[in-house]
Amino acid sequence: MKLIITKHNLGLWAANHISARIHQAEKNPFVLGLPTGGTAEDMYAALSSLVQNKKLSFQNVVTFNMDEYVGLAPEHDQSYHYFMNHHLFSHVDAPAENIHILNGQAEDLTAECAAYEEKIKQKGGIDLFLGGVGQNGHLAFNEPGSAFDSRTRAVQLTQNTIEANSRFFNNDVRSVPTQALSVGIGTILDAKELLFLANGPKKAQAVAQLSKGEITPQWPITALKTHANAIMLVDEEAAGLLEGKAKEDLLRQQQENPDGDWILTL
Ligand code: GLP
Repeated sequence: MKLIITKHNLGLWAANHISARIHQAEKNPFVLGLPTGGTAEDMYAALSSLVQNKKLSFQNVVTFNMDEYVGLAPEHDQSYHYFMNHHLFSHVDAPAENIHILNGQAEDLTAECAAYEEKIKQKGGIDLFLGGVGQNGHLAFNEPGSAFDSRTRAVQLTQNTIEANSRFFNNDVRSVPTQALSVGIGTILDAKELLFLANGPKKAQAVAQLSKGEITPQWPITALKTHANAIMLVDEEAAGLLEGKAKEDLLRQQQENPDGDWILTL
């Protein structure tokens, strides 16, 4: 995998990457896996403006979101349905039938998850899966300990994640759902390409795990190292706890090319 550290806006970087992939796509439609979270907001703003400026279209794009809280109605302003509509889908030309988000209110959550995996398969698999990272290294809602071959399922959120996400629920830990539906790590790793983003000092510990070498379910982020075509894109703060050779490589590149993106192969 590549760890890319950039000074540039992560969202703009990611939106340009996504746009290039959609334009290059030989097959029609292009299948995108999408995240929610604060880190993704700039990326959705940049994608929306590309579409509004007629530089990009979602007409031939199919999307699958990575997760949703259990029990929140789509109209709830902290549901991921609401987030996606607010930040992306109300601004772009994606046909409604091309948009897929797990239903956290389904009566049979197991059947909902199985049907989701089936739909991804029917669309030919995910071409590019975008994601963020939790402070504890989670991917989607695959909390520490999740198996690398896990599939879409109902999961229990850890206290760490509930506390981190309470900032979106008026800092009231009790109103954060304790369960979610989430694609599995296996579902993510099946995608042809991965682009995950992390910014700020709170993500630095998780990002540092990538350079420490050990690949372990205790740090779901390290699953990215098992993928042949994965990029972790971070800002300088999120790269702040790199150690050893990764840190030396970064410092050397920063001296040689102060304005560039700095690329570490891990
Ligand atoms: C939630 C989501 C994750 C996301 C994480 C980070 O827990 N389920 O998919 O990566 O938040 O969010 P943020 O970007 O707000 O830090």
